[in-house]
Amino acid sequence: MCGIVGYVGSKQALEIVVEGLRRLEYRGYDSAGVAVITGGELEMRKKAGKLANLEALLGEDPLPDSTTGIGHTRWATHGAPNDINAHPHLSGDARVAIIHNGIIENFAELRDELIAMGVETVSETDSEVAAHLLALALPEWDGDLAAAMRAVCRRLEGAFTLVAIDADAPDLLVAARRNSPLVVGRGKGENFVASDVAAFIAHTRDAIELGQDQVVVLTKDDVLVTDFEGNPADYNEFEVTWDASAAEKGGFDLFMLKEISEQPRAVADTLLGRINRQGLLQLDDMRLSLEEIRAIEKVVIVACGTAYHAGMVAKYAIEHWTRIPCEVELASEFRYRDPIVDSRTLVIAISQSGETMDTLMALRHGRQQGAKALAICNTQGATIPRESDAVLYTYAGPEIAVASTKAFLTQIVATYLVALYLAQVRGHMFGDEIRAVVDELSNMPNAVDLVLDTTEGVRELAREFADATSVLFIGRHVGFPVALEGALKLKELAYMHAEGFAAGELKHGPIALIESGVPVVVVVPSPRGRSVLHEKIVSNIQEVRARGAITIVIAEEGDELVVPYADHLVRVPEVPTLMQPLVSTVPLQVFACEMATVKGHDVDQPRNLAKSVTVE
Ligand code: G6P
Repeated sequence: MCGIVGYVGSKQALEIVVEGLRRLEYRGYDSAGVAVITGGELEMRKKAGKLANLEALLGEDPLPDSTTGIGHTRWATHGAPNDINAHPHLSGDARVAIIHNGIIENFAELRDELIAMGVETVSETDSEVAAHLLALALPEWDGDLAAAMRAVCRRLEGAFTLVAIDADAPDLLVAARRNSPLVVGRGKGENFVASDVAAFIAHTRDAIELGQDQVVVLTKDDVLVTDFEGNPADYNEFEVTWDASAAEKGGFDLFMLKEISEQPRAVADTLLGRINRQGLLQLDDMRLSLEEIRAIEKVVIVACGTAYHAGMVAKYAIEHWTRIPCEVELASEFRYRDPIVDSRTLVIAISQSGETMDTLMALRHGRQQGAKALAICNTQGATIPRESDAVLYTYAGPEIAVASTKAFLTQIVATYLVALYLAQVRGHMFGDEIRAVVDELSNMPNAVDLVLDTTEGVRELAREFADATSVLFIGRHVGFPVALEGALKLKELAYMHAEGFAAGELKHGPIALIESGVPVVVVVPSPRGRSVLHEKIVSNIQEVRARGAITIVIAEEGDELVVPYADHLVRVPEVPTLMQPLVSTVPLQVFACEMATVKGHDVDQPRNLAKSVTVE
């Protein structure tokens, strides 16, 4: 949600900033803007709509050369997505420009105060107040932008990343963060700030993860981090493992297609190096002691969107393998219902970005109640892993398309590793049983590859049903969250009415939606696993078909029992029951992607959405 990038060095700042914005555009694309300092003056261009509109403007009305610049791509919260509300925002004297991500909760009060002082505001944003406050604070702090920024931050409430430049200090960037993401990239004779490392990985892999309530001052040669009071502050340095090409389309038309195709590798990388020489699971970042793990009495998973669906899948495995009760909760609901959490609870926060505000707040709530927190995250330097007791990274590489695909599969794999590790430490499973499951997991990249080789049929189906007004998805057991995920993908990308249901719930309401010609996608469990589930879903397929539905049946190779009831059959490889989501989700991703393409939608940047939702 909102992408931020800043550069100070000796190269052309504008090129680097715009390139960074291109890599961050997935965070928001309502408007974009840049500002540079040149000849002691600030110059700014901003434009509503996607980055391409800003680039066109820069073509018509170029900015002068500069070695210090900032850029922003917006996901609107306060104020419509128009040119005026686009960032950067300037102070009244045009001395200071700021970019902001987050929500300044006390902005109305601050704006009234500014207006009472005679300051004119031009936008409807909460962000603009920060520019005016900074300009007013500068004289009080002898023109020291960093000191002024600290003073302003002390007055702000809510979530914010701010980056400021000052026309009178052309070789300086000052950035601050509270609750919203910000990482620093350290180059040679140049430095960067950005919402995430994707913005600068083409230039440097040396990064700094900033802590909560910190201000960073960057010149081309120095990086100075303090708290909001000006005291030197600790920070973590890390080396970015992603390479620049990972954030490129690499010959694919869409990031989503590339990311779907990367799933076998992403799953394999997430499994890599998890078994030690003794054949035991070894989770390096698991900073929980064996005693703490043995003391766990309950697992609570908190997540949003697709990550929540991964959590729903994980519950089946966690309870099956560890016998520890596991709850899965939407992060946005968790902390508002007084959940029962204590020091014997393990809260698992699943988040691709590691920045989703609801998930972060749920995690903090859990920790405040004494729970231990484990993050499953794909992004180094992000807030959620930093604030957790333990971390398990998914190695999916950067996920740029807004609709999550490869992160989902790797999140399932990571939660399975956690479940197996808990089972190992607590003695719920024997070593050979665990190794057998790890072996099954290790076969999954091949299984996903097989699915990817046979997607043409699904694409044809998407084209055939592109005019449907509604698509329903049903599943049982781990197929239920897969059905939810299939429906979510279709809503996100094809802007269609789509609902996922537990197949057993059909007759309690949803079956009333079935009428002649309604497509129903059925995620069929393996007949070899719990055959009772299979029998039941075969009945469900018959029930919807009897009422006129057209069934699209996702079933494993060799399942002949479903054939008579499938109007359309999509085959996935035979895999163990708990592994099925890893194969059966893939055709649903392809279905939604193709459907959106046929409808002419922007698949990578669907309307109204953002990749990383850093507001509540
Ligand atoms: C947004 C994205 C989804 C994602 C969800 C959770 O809604 O559009 O694709 O699943 O946030 O994101 P997270 O980064 O916490 O996994």
